[in-house]
Amino acid sequence: MKQIKKAVFPVAGMGTRFLPATKANPKEMLPVVDKPLIQYAAEEAVAAGIDTLIFVTGRNKRSIEDHFDTAYELERELEAKSKQKMLEVLRNILPKHVNCVFIRQSQALGLGHAVLCARPVVNDEPFAVILADDLINFTDKPCLRQMVDLFNFQHCSILGTETIPKEDVSSYGIVDGVKLKEGLMEVSGIVEKPKVEDAPSNSAVVGRYILTPNIFDLLEKTQKGAGNEIQLTDAIAELLKEQRVLAYNFDGRRFDCGSKLGYLKAQVEFALEHHEVGSDFRAYLNELNARENQKIIQMKKPS
Ligand code: UTP
Repeated sequence: MKQIKKAVFPVAGMGTRFLPATKANPKEMLPVVDKPLIQYAAEEAVAAGIDTLIFVTGRNKRSIEDHFDTAYELERELEAKSKQKMLEVLRNILPKHVNCVFIRQSQALGLGHAVLCARPVVNDEPFAVILADDLINFTDKPCLRQMVDLFNFQHCSILGTETIPKEDVSSYGIVDGVKLKEGLMEVSGIVEKPKVEDAPSNSAVVGRYILTPNIFDLLEKTQKGAGNEIQLTDAIAELLKEQRVLAYNFDGRRFDCGSKLGYLKAQVEFALEHHEVGSDFRAYLNELNARENQKIIQMKKPS
């Protein structure tokens, strides 16, 4: 079995939940503290040993290409002003051995279609898919590294999953299967955005996948499904009939940065950990908390 060396980043979605911020700018360029979501995702891929980043882009996605390209003018200006530290930050966005490939998805026909657009570059290799709007914090190993390590042992498709509250199942792809050990399940079924009463479990697929190239032939045949989009989940449901697929409950905390609340939570938690602003931000939150408590006490006082 080949090694996982390529990662696909579908970044051609409309990002309607973030309008108007995403009117002219892709959702994946929204920053969490000082880095855009897509950079966190790229760093996670590189930490998993990936050397080819394949971005499936749509309209308004030029800024993603620019972000991973050299910014000559900016570099020259920083050099002239001897801003060495910032220059290093710019020059180290990606290590030298990593290549970026950009493919255009001309119409946002769905996540499954976006992944299929990457076929000419992925060819016949197993590959990773990362949805940058699912930002995953970790303590020990980044999520994709955990999944690649598991792949090197199991040699099959692996879906990154999370146990979610039952009432949220209709926002996710939900898997059914047999537990192999704590955190690992052999998938027997998968369904996109089921109704609460139809969901086979509350184990949800989040934005991390390792897929065998067999998925491409199945995607070619996949018809529009939930939300009138070509769904990756539907192709995975077909893949299950041919090959083993595992669901892996990764170790880490996921923030759904495609939603406003998830994005705000990520800002707060990443800011608290940030080397530059973390301690000042913590002090600010404590002060804010004290002020809010004071307001509550005032409101409760009899007039
Ligand atoms: P979402 O379901 O989050 O859709 O897509 P979206 O369009 O980005 O956002 P909303 O719901 O309108 O706010 C999941 C991932 O799949 C990509 C998106 O960029 C996102 O990373 N995607 C989706 C594509 O690349 N192409 C598509 O046709 C659809």
